[in-house]
Amino acid sequence: MTKLESVAIVTGASSGIGHAVVRTLLAEGWTVVGISRRPAELDESQYHEFLIDLGNLDALAALVDNQLAPLFSDDRWKRIGLVNNAATPGFMRSVEEIEPQDLAQVLAVNVVAPVYLMGVAVRHTPAWIPLRIVNVSSGAATWPLPGLADYGSSKAALRLASMTLGAELRSGDLAGGARTNVAVMSYSPGVVDTPMQVTARSADSPWSRPFVGFHAQGQLVSPEAPAGEIVRFLAGDHAEMFVERRFGET
Ligand SMILES: NC(=O)c1ccc[n+]([C@@H]2O[C@H](COP(=O)([O-])OP(=O)(O)OC[C@H]3O[C@@H](n4cnc5c(N)ncnc54)[C@H](OP(=O)(O)O)[C@@H]3O)[C@@H](O)[C@H]2O)c1
Repeated sequence: MTKLESVAIVTGASSGIGHAVVRTLLAEGWTVVGISRRPAELDESQYHEFLIDLGNLDALAALVDNQLAPLFSDDRWKRIGLVNNAATPGFMRSVEEIEPQDLAQVLAVNVVAPVYLMGVAVRHTPAWIPLRIVNVSSGAATWPLPGLADYGSSKAALRLASMTLGAELRSGDLAGGARTNVAVMSYSPGVVDTPMQVTARSADSPWSRPFVGFHAQGQLVSPEAPAGEIVRFLAGDHAEMFVERRFGET
């Protein structure tokens, strides 16, 4: 049986932090599967991609059944990583202006898809293969930023789902018993120079002011910096099944 290299599934591979994570992983010899709507435009044999809208939950379920579940189940991988990085920034409106369909769209991409993918990864990865999951969070998950109720509540939900998975992994009540070879990180990348920041500071909304300020004060870091921390977590051994970190703490 041929042993395969380590593999990582990275959502939001076409841009920003996700693109930097993919490039760093490829440089370190990982096989990478990217998921986004646009291509990442990388011409490397170790890179594979699926172009879907993560908010289309039927398309995501089909991708899982046909491609991702068989990939996670392959017992020849040395290590498996999942980086739930894709997110939509939300509509930057006050709570009183939120439309239900818009909110449902943000929650589908930012919560339903990543929580589903975490579950699929745990369910299908053989217990003896190290599985590392990074869920990209935000300061908005733990702090009420006006105008960000849709985005912030989606990140808060993903954060709590990550913590809950950690508690389940430690539990003897988990189907098949506690899992010792899985580690989950909820990771807040700081203020990063990506298209999402451009969208936030260009929005026609009074709530865009803090993002204009981050840029004006030179607070943005390059996507390679958080990407390096994410990749270090994927490659590492961890005593805790759940950890929460912010940029600069790893
Ligand atoms: N930049 C920051 O300062 C900052 C701060 C805190 C947290 N974060 C978090 O960091 C992560 C990466 O954001 P970023 O700053 O790198 O933003 P970005 O450059 O805008 O990248 C977002 C990525 O998500 C993908 N995506 C968005 N909606 C999607 C959908 N419906 N289906 C599939 N893919 C989708 C995009 O791909 P397509 O458009 O090709 O689909 C893109 O690759 C996000 O979780 C964000 O919340 C960023």
